[in-house]
Order: sequence, then C-alpha cells, then structure tokens
Amino acid sequence: MLYNDDCINVLSTLQEASVDMIFADPPYFLSNNGKSISSGKVVSVNKGDWDKKENYSDILLFTKRWMQGCYRVLKNTGTIWVSGTKHNIFDVKRVMDEIGFSIINIIIWKKIDPPPLIYKNKYRFSYEFIIWAKKGKYHYFNYDAMYKVDNNEMHDVWFLPSVSMSEKKYGRHPTQKPECLLERIIIASTKEGDVVLDPFMGSGTTCVVAKRLNRKWIGIDKEREFCAIAKLRLANIL
Ligand SMILES: C[S@@+](CC[C@H](N)C(=O)[O-])C[C@H]1O[C@@H](n2cnc3c(N)ncnc32)[C@H](O)[C@@H]1O
Repeated sequence: MLYNDDCINVLSTLQEASVDMIFADPPYFLSNNGKSISSGKVVSVNKGDWDKKENYSDILLFTKRWMQGCYRVLKNTGTIWVSGTKHNIFDVKRVMDEIGFSIINIIIWKKIDPPPLIYKNKYRFSYEFIIWAKKGKYHYFNYDAMYKVDNNEMHDVWFLPSVSMSEKKYGRHPTQKPECLLERIIIASTKEGDVVLDPFMGSGTTCVVAKRLNRKWIGIDKEREFCAIAKLRLANIL
C-alpha cells in the first residue's frame, strides 16, 4: 500500500500494533548550501525543501512526532531501523530513548565507493549510521541467515556499495538507498508475510525489496514525484 501524504498523518490512521518492522530514512537536514562531489562533478548538497526546517526545535518536534507514530503502529515484538549521519543521528537516538525504544545495535554502513572530498581539510565521509531498536522485550533476528552471508557471526560494520545506476532506471531520488542494504535489513528482522513499513519511502526501495521477499509493505512519502517513481519500480519487479 502506498500513501502520498505526510507520514505523521498517515501513521495516526493506521491500526495500532499492526506492523512488524519499520525502516525509516528520514530527512537528515543537511541541506545547508554546501558543496559535494558526485560522479566527478561539484554539486550542491541541497536535497530539496523536504530536507529543510526553520530551526532546531522544529527538527526535534518533527522527529518526536513521526517516531511516536512509529512506536504506536509497531507490534510489541516489532523493531525499527533508522538511518542517519552526524546531522541527525544523535537527535534520533535521544528521541528513541525518550519514547521508550531499546537499542539493539548501531550499524555502520561503510560505503565501499564513497565520494571524494571537495575541500582537502578533513577525512573522507564514508559511512552512515543505522540504529536498530526494539519496542518490547522480545524481537525477531534471523541469526542463521546473517551467519550465512560471511560464514561467520555477522558484525555491526557492513561493507556495502552505494546505490547502483540500474536501481535508478525509473527515476532519480537524491538520497536513494541501495537495495542490498534493505535486503539485509529485511531478511534479518522479518519473516515472509510480515508487514514492513517505510514512513519516508522516497523512491520506494524498502517496498520494492519487501515485495520481492514476499513481505507485506506500506510506503509513505509526501512528495508526488517520488511516489510516482516508487509506483513504477513496484510495477516492474522481476
Ligand atoms: C532520505 S529520503 C528517503 C529515500 C529512500 N530511502 C529511497 O531509497 O529512495 C526522505 C524522504 O522523506 C520524504 N519526506 C520528508 N518529510 C516527510 C514527511 N513529513 N512525510 C512523508 N514523507 C516525507 C521526502 O520526500 C524524501 O523522499
């Protein structure tokens, strides 16, 4: 099911305790007119109006409101994964603690192909955080499937590529996540038939992978152009 609306509104209409797993890739609020390098070209870091808020208290309030909505719709055995960088992840962690989530792991997604620096005055940015947290006492973890990936106990630093061009053939999203990242997350924390929700689905990566892996899926995005990309991707799953 896809919703083209504000996730805070949609979450308030969904049934309480009905979702097994949430992956949230919220705005990082990093659109500060800075510059970066993409495909060898200098580009603006600005993502769009959806990545801007007037002030810090608005950002905190927004984070609390969508996170509370997620907490309400998650089953007691459910878990939530939230991605971020230095720009947002410490606020995410603080709000998770306030709301009552318990952290299971903090994953480092180490990008094997990070963009080069534009100003050579610091280390290259090459990872993102993904906080994995639970609502209740017990949660599901597919230990065996994760073990098989490296033939060893999987650790919390994941070496994975950025999104490939072939995953962008139905349209471009400025912060699209790679399908391999969502595959790992969905297989680790859900079973076939479970309900997966993404409140900031963008181009629909979570829903595409959930559908391919025979999970039920709910995707929400307030921008019509991104919902259109998600619909196309979902209609063309092999
Ligand atoms: C970081 S992007 C997610 C990208 C996505 N993971 C993908 O693979 O394409 C965040 C998305 O959240 C959406 N968004 C921002 N604020 C929102 C809100 N209040 N409700 C719903 N969607 C929102 C934006 O339109 C944007 O597409």
